Amino acid sequence: MRAPTCHGIIVIVIVTLCTSILYMYNTSLSGTPANEASPEVANQKSPTNPQNKVGRPHLDGYNSIIDEKPLQMHCNSCALVTSSGHLTGSRRGEEIDRTECVIRMNDAPTLNYQQDVGQRTSLRVIAHSSMQRVQRNHQQLLDSSQDTVFIFWGPSNFMRRDGKGLVYNNLRAVNQVLPKLKIYIISQQKMLDLDELFKNETGKDRKESNSWLSTGWFTMTIAMEICDHINVYGMVSPEFCKAPHQHSVPYHYYEPLGPDECGMYLSHEQGRRSSHHRFITEKQVFANWARTFNIHFYEPNWSPTPLIWNKTGTSTAPDS
Ligand SMILES: *[C@@H]1O[C@H](CO)[C@@H](O)[C@H](O)[C@H]1NC(C)=O
Ligand SMILES: *[C@@H]1O[C@H](CO)[C@@H](O)[C@H](O)[C@H]1NC(C)=O
Repeated sequence: MRAPTCHGIIVIVIVTLCTSILYMYNTSLSGTPANEASPEVANQKSPTNPQNKVGRPHLDGYNSIIDEKPLQMHCNSCALVTSSGHLTGSRRGEEIDRTECVIRMNDAPTLNYQQDVGQRTSLRVIAHSSMQRVQRNHQQLLDSSQDTVFIFWGPSNFMRRDGKGLVYNNLRAVNQVLPKLKIYIISQQKMLDLDELFKNETGKDRKESNSWLSTGWFTMTIAMEICDHINVYGMVSPEFCKAPHQHSVPYHYYEPLGPDECGMYLSHEQGRRSSHHRFITEKQVFANWARTFNIHFYEPNWSPTPLIWNKTGTSTAPDS
């Protein structure tokens, strides 16, 4: 058998294997609450860097799946492309592709959507729970020709490096077959830091409120570490879904018949079940960051409401 054919077969075998492992993994995830923050990870050295600006975490905490080397990436300007239905018909593709770095989330495709979302991908941030869909679409999404960096996030019991982390094992197998792929995972310490950042910014404890940070949260915080300037495409303001609006858009531009975006945000925000996200609370934090950092929102276009200064010299956002 010629080597390329053999290689192809190995890829197929690995992908099939990984998909079945992931099936078991997803089944177990929905059955049992994730055992976060196992004690051994709490002992890792804290990467706290006092020189860092408040609210702007540093680049430690993203390590290569193969050699654990930290991620080194910096861009003067970034396009953070969400998966929102607001992008449909936006024709922002060319503008997005002209940006130095293009950041996407999960399995959001570009093929057949170039006109609205562009076709380049410099960085893709992927949730453990989207891995199966990414692998199903691996020819398009795990294409190393674009030199894309992939960052995966997930709860510690699935990402641990001691052989017991199913997602970690799976990613390692993929990276061994496709060694050119630049796959990184968010370290356990970084996951704890990002929980703490959420608590610092909102006063809410993520674990106590029984919610999960969203891929949008991870993507925005990573973008703030990597990029000097961020244009966000397809993210609504925190107030958007509270106001009555004319037309509803799908949650994902690539699932036009899927759920409505505001419906999704509102039901998750009020959710008490274990797998919901505080999408609207997260957007309040992003709006806050946009007052200080170089972040701009398009499709829909909005800027954070200015702070109201009152006589006592304290400031509050009018509606947060
Ligand atoms: C959260 O706030 C505390 C107290 O101000 C600070 O020491 C800590 O570094 C903050 N954590 C993050 C991740 O920003
Ligand atoms: C003015 O500041 C006080 C003290 O922090 C605060 O309680 C109040 O809500 C502020 N008023 C407005 C209108 O923001």
